[in-house]
Amino acid sequence: MDEGRLDFYFFPVALDKFRPFSLINFDLYIKVENRFVLYKHRNITITKDDIHTLQENNVLYLYVQNKERKSFRQYAENNIEEILKDPTVSLNVKATYIYESAFNVVEDIFKEPRSEGNIQRARGIINHTVDFIFSDSGAFVNLLQIRAHDYYTYTHSVNVCTFSVALANRIGITNPTTLKEVGLGALLHDVGKSKIDSRIINKPSALSPSEWEEMKKHPLYGVEIVQGTEAGGETVFSVISQHHEKVDGSGYPQGLKEHQLSIYGKISSICDVFDAITTNRSYSVARTPMEAAQFMLSRKENFDPTLLKHFFELFAFKKTTPP
Ligand SMILES: [Fe+2]
Repeated sequence: MDEGRLDFYFFPVALDKFRPFSLINFDLYIKVENRFVLYKHRNITITKDDIHTLQENNVLYLYVQNKERKSFRQYAENNIEEILKDPTVSLNVKATYIYESAFNVVEDIFKEPRSEGNIQRARGIINHTVDFIFSDSGAFVNLLQIRAHDYYTYTHSVNVCTFSVALANRIGITNPTTLKEVGLGALLHDVGKSKIDSRIINKPSALSPSEWEEMKKHPLYGVEIVQGTEAGGETVFSVISQHHEKVDGSGYPQGLKEHQLSIYGKISSICDVFDAITTNRSYSVARTPMEAAQFMLSRKENFDPTLLKHFFELFAFKKTTPP
């Protein structure tokens, strides 16, 4: 098996992404020339001395098998609290823990959307995300930098969540409870897709008219799911039900217009479109943020102009005000 083929089965994890003395629940490998060699079996801890010795031997990354990606994400979620409160840990590492943990939770929510345990985990991640974004002016930039550039429902949900929280705060929403509701709604905005036949969701070609009618119901399916859980709240419902509405009334599922839409719905609509067009899809290549701005401005009648202006200002990476 050649090196390129082997790389397909492993992903790298920088040494600084392991929390010393934490329990590692997956096998760790080292890359030696073109081979991956087992370094430690699962259910071990990795010590500061281990990390130091690896660094002395110019080993900067450990490798994990792709089939254990879920375990890696669970590891991130298990350790996120300690990582986020450690002042010696870099923003990049903290952003990675947030991203992987959020992905882990969203994946489980799509499998079991009515599980109260999963909703509680989502609330936990949102609390961490909001606190992180306002802990440091560079935090949002770090989340932007590590975001995945291939479209996937779970990563899209995490991206829309971080964008929505940042935009809400930028327009002056500083109440932490409201920001966390916006974030929770955004994290769950596509959960209604879990009720739609996967053959429609994953269809690589254009949807038939009847399939498209079904697809357009996912915002309302999402509200139905969330209404039966502790995640329910007006802000959360607005984000989920209105994320495909447009201020000129051309959106779906209800074709609501400007004055009928909540500010939270308008925020989620901008963030949803931006993330969708700046990630690679099966039918289109990712636009750069600048190209996305031009595209969205060419359709500015779809969006609230003030929100759109503030959204693109986020990419100037200016300092945000803590709540
Ligand atoms: Fe959607």
